[in-house]
Amino acid sequence: MSATTHDPTRSPRRRGPDRDHEMGDDAAFWDKIAEEYAASPVKDVASYERTLERTRAHLSPSDEILEVGCGTGSTALRLASDVAHVTATDGSNAMLEIARGKAHEQGVGNVRFAQSMLPDPALEERTYDAVLAFNTLHLVSDLPAVLRNLANALEPGGLLITKTVCLAEQTRLWAIPLFVLRLLGKAPSVHLLSFDALETAICDAGFEIVEMGDHPAPRNRFVVARKKPTP
Ligand SMILES: C[S@@+](CC[C@H](N)C(=O)[O-])C[C@H]1O[C@@H](n2cnc3c(N)ncnc32)[C@H](O)[C@@H]1O
Repeated sequence: MSATTHDPTRSPRRRGPDRDHEMGDDAAFWDKIAEEYAASPVKDVASYERTLERTRAHLSPSDEILEVGCGTGSTALRLASDVAHVTATDGSNAMLEIARGKAHEQGVGNVRFAQSMLPDPALEERTYDAVLAFNTLHLVSDLPAVLRNLANALEPGGLLITKTVCLAEQTRLWAIPLFVLRLLGKAPSVHLLSFDALETAICDAGFEIVEMGDHPAPRNRFVVARKKPTP
């Protein structure tokens, strides 16, 4: 593993004005609902525990890991005692503020929270043993670019562990209510992924899938994928 002292919060961003605008809207949406999100209970506790259990099965006490889209930090804090260090990032500063408060309350010292909007070239300035993305990849506007970004933040052989909402699995009619809610400022931009589209995008970014699961069913895909060595 290689490491630098780079802080993603200080990185210049390389992206166009339109994407900046969309990301700014989304960060503002998540900032606005951060308190409500923190207060809402996990909907399916058994599936969440299963996701944690399957994630832990791939981690080692010496691992340094990155979690992107960490929200209010619940998962990073639950996994902190299983690894050496967690860098947990999110686009929303309000989410991160809550996460830092929880880390302080729980006395967890090996998690660093930092603001970072995906895709973020700064994430590639060091590498990790595993990158986690839970309930986040369906929210990014350019999934292939984000997956390449996360691959570049991994050692060859490093793991991408993700659980992703795949709304296209049942019906694409989701697009209508989501569009209306987005117009009303009550939903972020969401991409209607299918299981196949997610798996293909992960493989196209240079990974081989080593485990898949459906927790919680029926619209979520848990995937563990290993970064292939560069030819
Ligand atoms: C549904 S929440 C999931 C939070 C947490 N991972 C969980 O499972 O509870 C999605 C999170 O992704 C963050 N997010 C959305 N789009 C993002 C982007 N492009 N870059 C970084 N974070 C993003 C939001 O701020 C939010 O905290």
